[in-house]
Amino acid sequence: MKKLVFLTGAGISAESGISTFRDSDGLWERHRIEDVASIEGWHRNPELVNDFYNKRRTQLSECEPNAAHQIIAELENLFDVTVITQNVDNLHEKAGSSRVIHLHGELTKACSENQKGYVTDIGFREIVFGEKAPDGHLLRPFIVWFGEEVPLMEFAMTEVESADYLVIIGTSLNVYPAAGLYHYAKPGIPIWLIDPNETQPVNKHVKIIREKATKGMDILKKELIND
Ligand code: OAD
Repeated sequence: MKKLVFLTGAGISAESGISTFRDSDGLWERHRIEDVASIEGWHRNPELVNDFYNKRRTQLSECEPNAAHQIIAELENLFDVTVITQNVDNLHEKAGSSRVIHLHGELTKACSENQKGYVTDIGFREIVFGEKAPDGHLLRPFIVWFGEEVPLMEFAMTEVESADYLVIIGTSLNVYPAAGLYHYAKPGIPIWLIDPNETQPVNKHVKIIREKATKGMDILKKELIND
């Protein structure tokens, strides 16, 4: 089977009702990104940040995958599929994708403030501020914030390096290191980008499908099957 790698961002979940990060007002759910998605923001006001992710988790419990997530999962019948996502939602898994790399963490997990090695599934429940991990340190959302390392980056790079096809969907390509991942693709492999809006520039070999994720994935599926 040929290897098909997806690099997804917030835009793929937009049609499932989850806001993207860089909406026109520059805020994420009425908060400045640096207040709720950086390690400095956590140190400044951990209670606010904890509460913010509790709300996102509750919101996620009411969201369903859309046709784009579903087509990606179905393509496992034809390709060896890996999804590398910057999203912290679980919609790829819920759609049935079996190999998902979450570069920026997962909303349905918590970890110790001290020991990022301690990770536990919490589903959609709230983290009560002050709750402790087994090591005695605060339990915090399992999110990779700005200012923190991206532990799965090397794994993601090797996945991209071995891809026969690469598809980028719904990311503004503003946030590194994730935004640079597509440069690791073997020279000459087909690369598509699906986004209804302008993103950061990509090289001229990338084929752009200027559509929302659901329509774009429908178009792409036909192109892949015909290839
Ligand atoms: P952004 O909010 O920066 O970009 C979302 C992209 O999705 C934009 O290019 C939109 O044009 C596009 N978009 C909007 N609606 C769409 C639709 N229906 N179908 C397809 N695309 C659509 O989100 P990301 O690039 O994912 O990190 O942001 C990257 C990281 O920045 C996030 O993972 C997060 C954030 O701060 C952390 O929280 C650490």
